[in-house]
Amino acid sequence: MSDNYSSAGYSGSTKSSSTRVQWSTRMAFILAAVGSAVGLGNIWKFPYITGEHGGGAFVLVYLGCILIIGIPVMMAEIALGRRGRHNPAQGIATLVREAGAHPFWKIIGVMALLCGFMILMFYTVVAGWAFAYVPKAASGSFVGENGDAIGSMFGGMLADPIALTIWMTVVLGLTMGIVLRGLHGGLEKAINLLMPGLLILLLILVGYAMTSGHFMEGVSFLFKADFSKMTGTGFLVALGHAFFTLSLASGAIMTYGSYLPENVSIGKTTMIIAIMDTVVALAAGLAIFPLVFANGLEPGAGPGLIFVTLPIAFGQMPFGSTFGTLFFLLLAVAALTSAISMLEPTISWLTEKFKMTRFKACMLAGSLLWLGGLGVVASLNIGSEWTLFGKTFFDMLDYLTSSWLMPLGGLLMAIFSGWILKKTVMLDELGLSSTIMHKLWLFTMRYITPLAIIIVFLNVLGIISF
Ligand code: TRP
Repeated sequence: MSDNYSSAGYSGSTKSSSTRVQWSTRMAFILAAVGSAVGLGNIWKFPYITGEHGGGAFVLVYLGCILIIGIPVMMAEIALGRRGRHNPAQGIATLVREAGAHPFWKIIGVMALLCGFMILMFYTVVAGWAFAYVPKAASGSFVGENGDAIGSMFGGMLADPIALTIWMTVVLGLTMGIVLRGLHGGLEKAINLLMPGLLILLLILVGYAMTSGHFMEGVSFLFKADFSKMTGTGFLVALGHAFFTLSLASGAIMTYGSYLPENVSIGKTTMIIAIMDTVVALAAGLAIFPLVFANGLEPGAGPGLIFVTLPIAFGQMPFGSTFGTLFFLLLAVAALTSAISMLEPTISWLTEKFKMTRFKACMLAGSLLWLGGLGVVASLNIGSEWTLFGKTFFDMLDYLTSSWLMPLGGLLMAIFSGWILKKTVMLDELGLSSTIMHKLWLFTMRYITPLAIIIVFLNVLGIISF
């Protein structure tokens, strides 16, 4: 793809909307957006929250959330970004002004920036786990080890604040370095290789899981819906995860959308991104749960799930060390392409609003993120006792963003684009091919999405129950 991609929105200077840099091709945007969407959310978070919330019914609710909330909201977010042609805060402010709407609505942009920033604080730490597992796998640490030994390997890593800090720093440094220089052809090529690579490795792991003798148990755990296991919290977690996995309501997709050329169809592009994202998550589930059952592990084991189950498989299968190394390497890179998309909104805000250089903006944001990262690291070991409402700093960041800020941001975006903006503005921007699709999108934005999100909130607050 052309050289323009290298500077797509990353030159740092503020330009007037007409000359603002753009992705060179639709493919460049899709790759970047898929790179943002596919990450730890799919491979680390999806399996473990599915395990914690009882499997099939949760998966069904999650898929429903992607379809009726995630996809329409993603379309809206890309369109808002492209229409605003700025960083989230100023882009939304521009739209609010143009529409003559109440200044309250500017909060959408501000919340998005805040949310992306908060997620990045713990994302770098978890991405660090993936990085740490690359040399572990390569040196054959998993070979012949049983579940207990591999479990304590993971526990040992979490208990070591120095190692966690080093890996977090490496991830943050790489993220800053890439965002600083701009996404160049190298990264584009990397995503090109990474996505098929990740998928192939996941399929190999699914293949291995088939030989575990417990494949069907895994399949039925994932796909047999037993709603008696679903709680109100389960609905909220599924909803929050639909936002998280598609990188919504936190500025990333809006910022990428602001670099999108006018002639690209937002509807089709969104479908491609959502499908890729879902396939990766389901493949991860199919690879992991059969192994969980085959090894007598607990599906609800929590955040360590993939770091314990997959190494068991790598320790036993032929060429396990090679596959293991490749897998964690791909996971690390997938996490990196997501982390970049979380940092970019803040950087574009600092450079556009405060006229900072890209370097200064990266240093400022990076320092704050590093301090936040230290807090997250500490909450896994030396500071695990420091809690607020029973949640550590890490849990709190995850809970506030996934369960509140993102769904709330999605709700506000839906109302803003469905009710507040002139109908023609969004329909124009979306450029859907048929009026039926237009109507369907508008109806979803106006009624379905807000209603679904409000019902989930009311349910969690105990005002209604189902
Ligand atoms: N979607 C990514 C994942 O599943 C995470 C991510 C990237 C993200 N950018 C984001 C999450 C912005 C929230 C907001 O791993």
